[in-house]
Amino acid sequence: MRTTIYPGSFDPITKGHLDIIKRAAKLFDKLIVVVLTNPDKEACFTIRERVEFVEKVTKDLENVEVDTFDGLLADYVKIRGAGSIVKGLRALSDFEYEFQMALTNKQINPDMETLFLNTSSEYMYLSSSIVKQVGFFGGDISDFVPEEIIDDITKKIRKVGEQIDNR
Ligand code: PNS
Repeated sequence: MRTTIYPGSFDPITKGHLDIIKRAAKLFDKLIVVVLTNPDKEACFTIRERVEFVEKVTKDLENVEVDTFDGLLADYVKIRGAGSIVKGLRALSDFEYEFQMALTNKQINPDMETLFLNTSSEYMYLSSSIVKQVGFFGGDISDFVPEEIIDDITKKIRKVGEQIDNR
C-alpha cells in the first residue's frame, strides 16, 4: 500500500489545503493529514480544534486519515512507514522556505521524499493568515474555507477579537 503524508499547521484548514488533499489522495492508496506545530507561527486555534476542522471537511474521503504529532515531521514519517510527504506550492515565494524544509527533513530521514503539488490557480492567493485577518475584521470567509467549518471558525475568531479588545 502506498501511503503519503500531508503535513501542515492548518490554522485553520482552507479551501486551498482541501484541494491539495483531494488531488493527492487520488495519487496514493492512503493519505495521512497530520496537524503539526510550526514553532515560527503563533496558532490561533488549538491543535484539537484544527484536527476537528480537518476531520469535518475530509469525512467523505475514504482513504484520508487525520492525525496529530508533537515532534519532528521526519520522525513522524518514519514512525508511519511512509516514503513521502506532499506539500502545496503557491508561488515562487513559497519555494525557498519549502526547499529548505525538504532538505532538512531529508537530512533527518534520508528515506523520505518531498513531493510538491502546485496549488490550483483559483487558490494561489489563499492562506490561513488571510482567513484569520478577514474573519477578525468581520469579513465574509465563505470563499476561503469549506462550508462545514465557517461558523466554528467565525465564532472562535470573534472570541479572540473580543479578548484582544478587552485588554
Ligand atoms: O502549514 P505550515 O505552517 O507551513 O507547516 C509547517 C510544518 C508544520 C509542516 C512545519 O513547521 C513542521 O514540520 N513542524 C514540525 C517540526 C519539524 O519537523 N520542523 C522541520 C524541521 S526544521
